[in-house]
Amino acid sequence: MLIKIKRGWELPEHAATPEHLYWNRRSLLKGLAAGPILAATSGLLSGCDEAPPREAAAAVEEPDPSAGFYPVTRNMRYRLDREITDEALATTYNNFYEFGSSKNVWQKAQALPIRPWTVRIGGMVENPFDIGIDELLAKMPLEERLYRHRCVEAWSMAVPWSGFPLKALVDLARPLSAAKYLKMVTFLDPSVASGQKASWYPWPYVEGLTLAEATNELAFIATGLYGKPIPKQNGAPLRLAVPWKYGFKSTKSIVLFEFTDQRPKSFWEEIQASEYGFWANVNPEVPHPRWSQASERVLGQSEKVPTLLFNGYGEFVADLYKDLDPVKDKLFM
Ligand code: MTE
Repeated sequence: MLIKIKRGWELPEHAATPEHLYWNRRSLLKGLAAGPILAATSGLLSGCDEAPPREAAAAVEEPDPSAGFYPVTRNMRYRLDREITDEALATTYNNFYEFGSSKNVWQKAQALPIRPWTVRIGGMVENPFDIGIDELLAKMPLEERLYRHRCVEAWSMAVPWSGFPLKALVDLARPLSAAKYLKMVTFLDPSVASGQKASWYPWPYVEGLTLAEATNELAFIATGLYGKPIPKQNGAPLRLAVPWKYGFKSTKSIVLFEFTDQRPKSFWEEIQASEYGFWANVNPEVPHPRWSQASERVLGQSEKVPTLLFNGYGEFVADLYKDLDPVKDKLFM
């Protein structure tokens, strides 16, 4: 059967995705040889307009040992300029490449075992240590925050995360003064995450922040969503939420926090450095090489809305970048 693969620039803006991999010649050839890439591509193209399986989303909820922690008190300092996204949408329209490259991975993600879940705090710290997620949750100051989330693919949502400031974890870790960056790494287990069998991706998923970013008040570790433990498809049992950056920075299902003096190379940067950089700060005036970032499709709404500089969080974070050159330092890609 002949399958026509659209090129990136033929995609409607709402369907633009970091699926550049499919248009990257080397990877495309590999992928064609491997077969599943075609299936993944067609799933992706149809996935954007799929109606969310609402009833099914409710059915995936299962008892979680941390359920007793939630709901937690909302921190009113972080306000939204829009409605909270429907829970059924935010929990069924996901990017979690470990479970496939379509948006419809929530069922597959249920295969991820989240207990026991041990987090390693390592690298340049006074004493590296391992800590179980439930012990970590008991130590951390839990609160709820309403945050916007802007994907590099030009869709967005606004959700109530529960969790704790990343700074609280940095303080617990006690990094050495020479540490400059925090690298965050997702689990690696191809036996439960079928996407990790795709050898053309540089697994595991890695992301990084400067320590100044990691200790900024906005940087948040989400362990809950909509007043409940965070669903697996959204990054259980703990994921990053850095709302002034494109969504790919917000690493899911983290197992390692490593303090380092070397700037980490992230998953997407490893794949396509000309399109996905280290900083990835949201800026409507700096287009992605293959699509505009001027506006965004809010999940659940038909009208697009203008995208804001730093996704509207400039008052909290603009200072972090005042000594950098936006163009030379590639602050917005
Ligand atoms: N983290 C991991 N481990 N794997 C991923 O594929 N996708 C990223 C980010 N974190 C991703 C990830 C992208 S591109 C986005 S937009 C957000 O997760 C999506 O988060 P959501 O599914 O909770 O909306």
